[in-house]
Amino acid sequence: MSRRSRTSRIAGLAVSAVAVLGVVGVPASAAPEAVPDAAQEFAAQRETGPLVLGHRGASGYRPEHTLASYELAARMGADYIEPDLVSTKDGVLVARHENEIGGTTDISSRTEFADRKRTKVIDGVTLTGWFTEDLTLAELKTLRAKERIPQTRPRNTLYDGRYQVPTFQEVLDLRAKLSRELRRDIGVYPETKHPTYFTSIKLPLEPALVRTLNRNGLNTPRAKVFVQSFEVGNLKALKRELRVPLIQLIDSTGAPADFVASGDKRTYDDLVKPAGLHEISTYAAGIGPAKDRIIPRDDRGFLKQPTSLVKDAHAVKLKVHPFTFRNENTFLPADFRSSTDPAQYGRAFDEYALFFKQGVDGLFSDNPDTAVAARAEFLNR
Ligand code: G3P
Ligand code: CA
Repeated sequence: MSRRSRTSRIAGLAVSAVAVLGVVGVPASAAPEAVPDAAQEFAAQRETGPLVLGHRGASGYRPEHTLASYELAARMGADYIEPDLVSTKDGVLVARHENEIGGTTDISSRTEFADRKRTKVIDGVTLTGWFTEDLTLAELKTLRAKERIPQTRPRNTLYDGRYQVPTFQEVLDLRAKLSRELRRDIGVYPETKHPTYFTSIKLPLEPALVRTLNRNGLNTPRAKVFVQSFEVGNLKALKRELRVPLIQLIDSTGAPADFVASGDKRTYDDLVKPAGLHEISTYAAGIGPAKDRIIPRDDRGFLKQPTSLVKDAHAVKLKVHPFTFRNENTFLPADFRSSTDPAQYGRAFDEYALFFKQGVDGLFSDNPDTAVAARAEFLNR
């Protein structure tokens, strides 16, 4: 089968997966016929196209960082699912975008935890709320996840109160189960969140991460795993312990929190310069830049000329996995918004096409079905 015909069929499959999933809450319109050899088709495409990284699962459709969100991402064809990792009081890695969980769980309405409310400074930012490091895993497991951005994603609130905060081990168990069922190796792309902070409170993330990957047979060069961090020091340390590729995250602005803590004056702007990229290439296999590092926006949100970041990173053999791609107008460049309604979907396919054309090696998406379909169009163009 030619590459062109293979990817045409994959494009249909991406929509087909959504159609099947329509019974659990995703729109099921425009369903094509089923494709019989789905696993083989996906496997072939994964070798040829940029990776689709299910950002916090399929967080465009389910409360983020829940097993339901990861499962949906895998079923939609994401190559990798992405858990952000923080620690509980008893040192268990759990999947949350940040250790303050007032916005993504029901803890603020749970009177038994009212006395755990704290004000803390995390990476220089003062936060008031409830923190994973103040709850044991058993306590955390009594909570239920909720949608972070209900104004933008009101449909996702249908699932509020239904899912627990998963442990990293539970995410890996799900990954293994779905890999068997879907007959393809689903990747996992864990991120250490606030590693310097967690080390400072004697709950370092890295030993538990290494232990868990070892225990699951995932600390090998052949494992479908990337480990990512916005900090530099912990990636350099992990390089000595891990045999999987590492990804240096690069934010739009600011500096790695470990640089700030140690008095290192370098910022993310320095990391994207040729010397910074060269240094990253000594410990990481790639970079995960905010997407405006590749195509910046002007003050009104319109796209400007692309930077040389993709070319510069590739020149030192770094992969490029930008974040974060989302269907709603509020997250899209002004060029691709469909209306002034921030929650309405805009021309997300146009944004994907633009970034695929830049030569990115993968991208983080809240809507993996859209990303998979856009990739198929790109490969088939
Ligand atoms: O890890 C890639 C991307 O997820 C980084 O941003 O804040 O969503 O974890 P964040
Ligand atoms: Ca992340």
